[in-house]
Amino acid sequence: MNAIKERMRAIVIDRFGGPEVLSVREVPLPRPAPDEVLVKVESAGVGVWDIGEREGMLAKMFGIQPRFPWILGSEGAGKITAIGDGVTGFRRGDSVYGDVWTKNSKDITTYVNPKTGFYAEYTALDADHAWPVPSTIPIEQAGALLIDGGTALRGLDDSLALQQDERLMVFGASGGLGHLAVQLGKRLGAQVFAIASGEDGVTLARRLGADAAVDGHNGDVVASAHDFAPNGFDAALVTVAGEAPEKALTAMREGGRVAYPWLNQRPPPKAPTGVRLLGYNGSLDPALVAKLNRLVGSGPFEVHLGGTFALDQAAQAYQAVRSHHLGRLALLPG
Ligand SMILES: NC(=O)c1ccc[n+]([C@@H]2O[C@H](COP(=O)([O-])OP(=O)(O)OC[C@H]3O[C@@H](n4cnc5c(N)ncnc54)[C@H](OP(=O)(O)O)[C@@H]3O)[C@@H](O)[C@H]2O)c1
Repeated sequence: MNAIKERMRAIVIDRFGGPEVLSVREVPLPRPAPDEVLVKVESAGVGVWDIGEREGMLAKMFGIQPRFPWILGSEGAGKITAIGDGVTGFRRGDSVYGDVWTKNSKDITTYVNPKTGFYAEYTALDADHAWPVPSTIPIEQAGALLIDGGTALRGLDDSLALQQDERLMVFGASGGLGHLAVQLGKRLGAQVFAIASGEDGVTLARRLGADAAVDGHNGDVVASAHDFAPNGFDAALVTVAGEAPEKALTAMREGGRVAYPWLNQRPPPKAPTGVRLLGYNGSLDPALVAKLNRLVGSGPFEVHLGGTFALDQAAQAYQAVRSHHLGRLALLPG
């Protein structure tokens, strides 16, 4: 392989813990294995689950024996600068996005102890987890597409089996997963009712194509939901736990379906009697990501970046991810 330099800057931890464990330092450039590509990172998505990575919760949950020093960052995008001997189908200079946390063995997704992460100038990415950046979005946005986009599509397409013209409720519609679900729901032909956070969230959801949007913190959500779907909603994707979504779900029709992804160990929402509740994990198999790429690439699309940070601002990014923000956040290491 043709490494272009020997060392790089990265966000590294030597033990799990709070923001105090973060350090920005020089580490050796990762060497791509024969089945990997080396990527110069231009954008790394910062998600709520990244805090779980730093604190050790994800490693514990997936039974992973941690190897330190550990470079953080689960997903991102960049340009390929070197290619492992066994990789076909990619060229140097290709723009790709992917994740380093999951690995496919046939159709099962397993969670791995990543050799390196995306909070770095370079990362080694399993070629089976490298995807061409769709032409409809810039590379900065692609860095935050995969995990929330894949999980949104898994919920809409697999769990809910969303059909053309169905009335879909998206609860958490201005968040990372939700704002992508609004756009994917429209691409799949649904009538989308967005329950977003704040007036800015409502504006974003409308701009991204929601047929109607309300503020889930302030508006009369149930009344607006009934106006939108007088016979009740066919389907709902809920990305938030607690009483507010449960109240909104009273607007589901008998026989309606409600999907929710793994919600950071919070209890699942309760649905009214006669409504099917479908918990799921957003596993990222190749067929799912190929469909995500097709849908994203088939017309204007936006992975809304509500904030971007330099590499050495990871602590601020973690703070921001826990505060009100729209869409996704990203570190831009370049
Ligand atoms: N593999 C998987 O299963 C998988 C993958 C990705 C994500 N997830 C999980 O899915 C959940 C959502 O992820 P995410 O990336 O979308 O997180 P997020 O960006 O924090 O999204 C949640 C959104 O819900 C909003 N919200 C909270 N209460 C609301 C209310 N009453 N009305 C309207 N909006 C409200 C939040 O806004 P405010 O903060 O402003 O209230 C935020 O925008 C997380 O628990 C995550 O762990 C699971």
